[in-house]
Amino acid sequence: MEYQPITLGYALGELAPFLSEETMQIHYNKYYLAYLNLLNSVLKRNKFDFSYTPQELFDRISEFPIKDRDEIIYGAGGVLNHELYFTSMTPVVDMEIKEPLKSEIDKRFGNRQVLERQIKDRAMLLTGSGYTMLVVNNYGQLQVLNMSNQDSPYEMGFFPILAIDAWEHAYYLDYKADRAGYVEQFLRHVDYDQVNRNYIQAMDQITKLNETSEM
Ligand SMILES: [Fe+2]
Repeated sequence: MEYQPITLGYALGELAPFLSEETMQIHYNKYYLAYLNLLNSVLKRNKFDFSYTPQELFDRISEFPIKDRDEIIYGAGGVLNHELYFTSMTPVVDMEIKEPLKSEIDKRFGNRQVLERQIKDRAMLLTGSGYTMLVVNNYGQLQVLNMSNQDSPYEMGFFPILAIDAWEHAYYLDYKADRAGYVEQFLRHVDYDQVNRNYIQAMDQITKLNETSEM
């Protein structure tokens, strides 16, 4: 038993010219799978039975020896952040945002343009390596934030619903140092149907958590 890689809803060359097949091949096969292998190997070393998801590892990290916790958190973050990033993208350009996400974006940001400007501004402020994400915070509100390296919003009790990988390996072959150009093209290739599903799922999880804490 071990965690399996996700299957993408598009071929690795299908995002071109936004991202080349070479970039996506390296990103998926070298970087993503390396995090997955790292996570699987530390968990197997701990005789873990893979009975719960990588996301649940953050809440149950105390079940593992202290010496392995950093590696598990780093591996789980690397896996989940990459899976969210890959599934945040689509070959379809300028996808419409549907309900209930649309109303929530309008309520919190005013409109989609303001949200997307905020994502771009945040991504440009990110120093070093990391991600810019749209999350549902523990108040059930949408929020744009930066995460360093492979840190996960789950560690803060937040639910990430959209991620842009701002590590140089995500875009350097195609954009060199032009992170702004990469982020602009990313924003045209967001799979808002998937982000909407992630939003609905996040709100369900928050509702369940609140019910449990009220009991
Ligand atoms: Fe990456």
